[in-house]
Amino acid sequence: MLKELENAIKNSIFKKVNYYESIDSTNSAAFLSTFDDNEIFVAESQTAGRGRLDRKWFSPSGENIYLSLKLIFEHTPISFEIISLTAISLRETIFELFDIMSEIKWPNDILINGKKCSGTLSEQRLSNQSSTVVIGVGINCNSNFGDSELSDIAISLSEVTGKNINRLEFLKYFLEKWSDNFYIFNKSGFLNIFNRWLEYSNIIGRHIFTTQNGVKRFFVVEDVKLSGELIVINEEKSYETLYVGDCFYVN
Ligand code: BTN
Repeated sequence: MLKELENAIKNSIFKKVNYYESIDSTNSAAFLSTFDDNEIFVAESQTAGRGRLDRKWFSPSGENIYLSLKLIFEHTPISFEIISLTAISLRETIFELFDIMSEIKWPNDILINGKKCSGTLSEQRLSNQSSTVVIGVGINCNSNFGDSELSDIAISLSEVTGKNINRLEFLKYFLEKWSDNFYIFNKSGFLNIFNRWLEYSNIIGRHIFTTQNGVKRFFVVEDVKLSGELIVINEEKSYETLYVGDCFYVN
């Protein structure tokens, strides 16, 4: 598999592949590496896969993609810029390979038929000279959520297409798409990426709610800042800013 993965990064910006049958978390492995260029970490299974907001990421063996992209920047990038670049690349990969219109859910989930097919966990470490960014991506490819306790919220590409998903092909396409979008981002700035993120997320004007300490609050999304925060109108008709957390769609 390592050889095939090495082949798969040839037309991407990534220079090295780290492949594991099983590892605690590809994001954790990425932070231990001392290689000083862009590299990827791929595992067949994770024993302690991590999600956002301290959640666990379901990581059974041989079914899905567990991937971390490690990038080294001279400056500190804005996290939302890199995660939205990742989200649009996933959305475009799914559309171009399978003709399926997925939706980006703020800030970085990919939904199909309202259920989560992919999630991204971005983490950063700073040193005096550089900033290391690790973008962990979990993509549900071949899991069968149908009769599981996750069936209301999770879905896999094979459940949507009715076909077994070739993970290597998906990975290759995605890494090339990610690299193309990264090139556009470096050359022309974030606006091009952001506009596609807005189109694919379809979030402006949407009715959403948040839950904090068991209290539900309802909002309408008025705008999204370039740094990813949502400008919303609350039930008292005043403006508020929602920082990265979790939100749910009312419809
Ligand atoms: C989310 O909560 O939606 C983010 C999930 C991110 C999961 C991926 S799987 C590969 C990488 N390694 C991890 O431990 N987490 C990320």
